[in-house]
Amino acid sequence: MSPLREVPDRVSAGSPNPISDMAKYQQMYDYALEDLDRFWLGVAREKITWMKEPSIGLSGSFSEIPDGPLSWFNDGKLNVTESCLDSNLASRGEKIAILWEGDEPDECRRITYNELHGEVCRAANALKELGVSKGDRVIIYMGMVPEAAVAMLACARIGAIHSVVFGGFSAESLRDRVLDCDSRVIITQDEGMRGSRKIPLKDVCDEALEGDTPVQKVLVYRRTGGDVQWDDSRDVWWQDIVPEQSTECAATECDAEDPLFILYTSGSTGMPKGLVHTCGGYITFTSYTHETVFDLREDDVYACMADVGWITGHSYIVYGPLANGATSLMFESIPTYPDAGRYWDMVARHGITIFYTAPTAIRALAAQGNDFVTAHDRSSLRVLGTVGEPINPDAWNWYYDVVGEGRCNIVDTWWQTETGGICITPIAPATPTTGGSATLPIPGIVPLLNDADGNRIDGEGEGLLCLEYPWPGQARTVWGDHPRFVSTYFEHFPGLYFTGDGCKRDSRGYYWITGRVDDVINVSGHRMGTAEFESVLVSHDSVAEAGVVGFPHPIKGSGVYSYIVLQPDETWSMDFADELNLLCRKQIGAHAKIDLFQHVPGLPKTRSGKVMRRILRKVAEGEPDALGDISTLADPSVVDAIKDGAKTL
Ligand code: PRX
Repeated sequence: MSPLREVPDRVSAGSPNPISDMAKYQQMYDYALEDLDRFWLGVAREKITWMKEPSIGLSGSFSEIPDGPLSWFNDGKLNVTESCLDSNLASRGEKIAILWEGDEPDECRRITYNELHGEVCRAANALKELGVSKGDRVIIYMGMVPEAAVAMLACARIGAIHSVVFGGFSAESLRDRVLDCDSRVIITQDEGMRGSRKIPLKDVCDEALEGDTPVQKVLVYRRTGGDVQWDDSRDVWWQDIVPEQSTECAATECDAEDPLFILYTSGSTGMPKGLVHTCGGYITFTSYTHETVFDLREDDVYACMADVGWITGHSYIVYGPLANGATSLMFESIPTYPDAGRYWDMVARHGITIFYTAPTAIRALAAQGNDFVTAHDRSSLRVLGTVGEPINPDAWNWYYDVVGEGRCNIVDTWWQTETGGICITPIAPATPTTGGSATLPIPGIVPLLNDADGNRIDGEGEGLLCLEYPWPGQARTVWGDHPRFVSTYFEHFPGLYFTGDGCKRDSRGYYWITGRVDDVINVSGHRMGTAEFESVLVSHDSVAEAGVVGFPHPIKGSGVYSYIVLQPDETWSMDFADELNLLCRKQIGAHAKIDLFQHVPGLPKTRSGKVMRRILRKVAEGEPDALGDISTLADPSVVDAIKDGAKTL
């Protein structure tokens, strides 16, 4: 078993956390388990500003989900922006809410809670002027500017449902999402900035909106002043309409179960699904986990390096931190601009105390050598976090020893878009850690490991990770398609939530996530479905069939490996591979890149025509001799061709 690192004194000393050591963790865990309703209702009432306090915890159960979504705090009424903004004004009005660092290191904005409240109200009033009302969907397609957070909160202020689309997605992906959630308004910006490169967000929006769409208004924040096309009847400059509004906007009363946002995420099959998160449960869960896991203190400078286009940005840049009155840093650029010391330079300049990023960034930076780190003063750091994919012990140790100089605890936080917030993680001042393990569930979360046949694994073992009981932060449904929600998460093991992850539990009870067991791949922290790639590849006239799988990649976690069967008479070339990658970029987005192409004569199929993906995976993982039983294959010679071809890549 790997050695444990005890919590450094500096992390545990003076912690205000009710869970400040392992005995208290165990007490709290047991207390929650005794009566989950009582536990979560207590958290919701204590932490959240309600217009009408809830008296009910959970209604429904996993077994009843096929009949309709379950609910939390059903009789409560609130507006989440009151927790994030108004409740902070009296005691923290002049505290910095959003500390923004732009693409260039000298570009900073410091927005206080008073200012953020005013800006959100202004933007909310502007949205009303554009015809947005409660329940309407608003797509936000922006880079990492404070106005993206303002836009999200402005929607929430008036009960509109936002759907943030990551700024790397292509016009086609954006259009799919606009159509799926039937949004009449989009908020975007002229251009985004990343590592001195300009990202043409408004141009992509224009392309996405060609032809018929429900979109009537596009609100455009001017970030760079670059040239953009303009449609007078549709487009409105943020700067023309928002600043002139009143800084007061009464918060719209919402039911606890009204949708707060939709976030699209990739699954095993088809088009990404729009997961729906609701107001009361989501804000309760994100604020509780943010405060508890990171051991938030009043004077912390908290920095999460995610993008607001992903769930981490929603939960742990915007909603959780603001509901806790924290100073939340928002970063527009990339970790290697102007050089690989950017993160640590920011730590020194802003006095960052809690720093949260993805293993892929840690691996990429570790590969650049220690000098970029040691050149900057990191003495302010107390808690380091990781999220998004398994972290290998080497990268973990580098983060612990080099970045944190052994003074910080690392919280390796396991969770998903679906879970809304952190579920399995160390709690900074309490949990001894060990590289590669997400350690233990937070109070109120009950993990369970099953074997493939649905038999529960007790004690030490390896299996499929499920969660046994509902929790407030979980997604309630898939927008417009509840049956898909049920079949994706609740059919595998009826009565349980199935995460799609494989996981080991060691003799200490610590959890070690081993990665996805379905056709989802986490590439550089971006979650993608192999089916999405396959549908792009076969849309090319010269491609007959395509099979895409992940393979271990030293920096990205997973790389993308594709097997291509060409139409008769077509010939394979590297130029053609580039063409296929361009197509992925165009149809999915800039982050969708295939690392390896293998031209094959056919895909391994069973006699009933089903592709045996296990074979594709094993060959891509470099284990061609561990294919298992291949006797059901229609044409076993295909396997030899695939194995031989793989050797030459
Ligand atoms: O496979 C797990 C991995 O990321 C997946 C969820 O991806 P997404 O919905 O994009 O959310 C990422 C940010 C929360 C999970 O099913 N994952 C996430 N965190 C970890 C992880 N794998 C191992 N360790 C983690 N800490």
